[in-house]
Amino acid sequence: MKIIIILLFILSPLHMAAARLLCPNVPHLSVPVVCSNACGTKLLYDHCINTMRSGGIDLSPSHTEEITVYAIVAASQTLDSYDDTDEAFSIQLQQNKSLSGAESDAYQGCMGDYATAYNSVALIVNNCLSNCYFKKLVDIYLNGMTSLENCRDRMLAPWMKVPPLYPKVERDRNKVLMAYLLGRLLQGL
Ligand SMILES: *[C@@H]1O[C@H](CO)[C@@H](O)[C@H](O)[C@H]1NC(C)=O
Repeated sequence: MKIIIILLFILSPLHMAAARLLCPNVPHLSVPVVCSNACGTKLLYDHCINTMRSGGIDLSPSHTEEITVYAIVAASQTLDSYDDTDEAFSIQLQQNKSLSGAESDAYQGCMGDYATAYNSVALIVNNCLSNCYFKKLVDIYLNGMTSLENCRDRMLAPWMKVPPLYPKVERDRNKVLMAYLLGRLLQGL
């Protein structure tokens, strides 16, 4: 009994956040439908399904949620992923004594890029999605994605050693791409 009560407590904030969202004119869809609407390829579709699965969303075709909920799930996972990478940059800068000057410049530059990228997704979650305000969403996403591209280019520079953090940046690009594709469904609603 105790365990059940505690579980309910843990689960309820997320549930209530989802239930509270009632944006006018936003369709309620199942995961398979929203993912196939958002994604043009099988690869992206599978990535979308995995994103929803790890966000704890019910994947069955009979379960529907407002599209906004899916967009929030993908955006929140993007923020967590950015946090993880940002911390890895900061660990390299603080602890790796064999970084060259150019490498530390690149990591430092990336931390700036990530700050911009993070702010744009946070703005989307807190100001756009939570307020049913979708007008600027695509522009804000594209801005943040450009910052991430800047970091990727730094990681690909010829003087970077077999880069320990490049895979994280690639993972983050996939995360934000999915958040963007789902968010884009809301543009114009
Ligand atoms: C430290 O930096 C060097 C040079 O870029 C790199 O080869 C090495 O993998 C880094 N060490 C760790 C523990 O990440």
